[in-house]
Amino acid sequence: MIRQEDVRIILKEGEALKYDRKDYLKFHEELSSKDRETTILFQEEPIFDALVPQGVFNPYGGIAAQAFMSGILNEIVNAKGKRVLDLGCGCGVIGLCCLFKESAKVVFSDLHPNIMPLKNNPLIREQDEVKVQDLCVEEKDNSYDLAFMSFPSRSIDRLMEADSYEIGILRNDDLVFRAIEQVGRVLAPGGEFVFFYRIFNNSFPLYLEVMSKLAAHFDLTTLKLLWYAGENDGHG
Ligand SMILES: C[S@@+](CC[C@H](N)C(=O)[O-])C[C@H]1O[C@@H](n2cnc3c(N)ncnc32)[C@H](O)[C@@H]1O
Repeated sequence: MIRQEDVRIILKEGEALKYDRKDYLKFHEELSSKDRETTILFQEEPIFDALVPQGVFNPYGGIAAQAFMSGILNEIVNAKGKRVLDLGCGCGVIGLCCLFKESAKVVFSDLHPNIMPLKNNPLIREQDEVKVQDLCVEEKDNSYDLAFMSFPSRSIDRLMEADSYEIGILRNDDLVFRAIEQVGRVLAPGGEFVFFYRIFNNSFPLYLEVMSKLAAHFDLTTLKLLWYAGENDGHG
């Protein structure tokens, strides 16, 4: 099982925030209200810095990014030598961990137009790319070995603006179905899809739909639960 606690993200300017995770929307609105520098610690040692541009999802204080990063850095997910797609990359912390683990190439992809400064991170090499696009629609079939997606955790029925902080934390469930299909298309045979998907207990039929969609593109006998978090208030 992934040891999420091995990774910690800190804000470089240790400024006090008005809101915390309990006020989820306000917390993220405040976090994304300006560019913020972060430092990533692995087993309490700083390993790299990442700029989170204004409006882009900020993984500080969250749960999923740390789990992905710990999985990669502890080699529970093997990124070495792989062609990696960091889908919904935000500030890029997941793909940056793959660079650390000597992936052959990492493509960072997100719909938010403000992700481009990621290109300037000193870890990025010539072969890596940063792209603004809807999921991975411009990527070629069978061109990746490993894809990551940390889906926004809350489900809503309306559409959102691509340049809003909202697209980092709210999802229209069509996003999940489209992503499964797209990732199924761009992964080479034998490729792996690592995703974080949060399902609320009162949405069990949605879980079944997601599993059916996955079964159309992936071998579910290889499905592994790498990490999970329960919550006291009845949310799965
Ligand atoms: C929960 S955040 C995760 C960000 C980053 N991977 C991390 O762990 O910090 C979800 C990301 O998905 C992106 N996203 C939402 N809809 C998208 C779409 N249609 N195509 C590509 N990215 C999308 C958001 O902009 C956001 O960066």
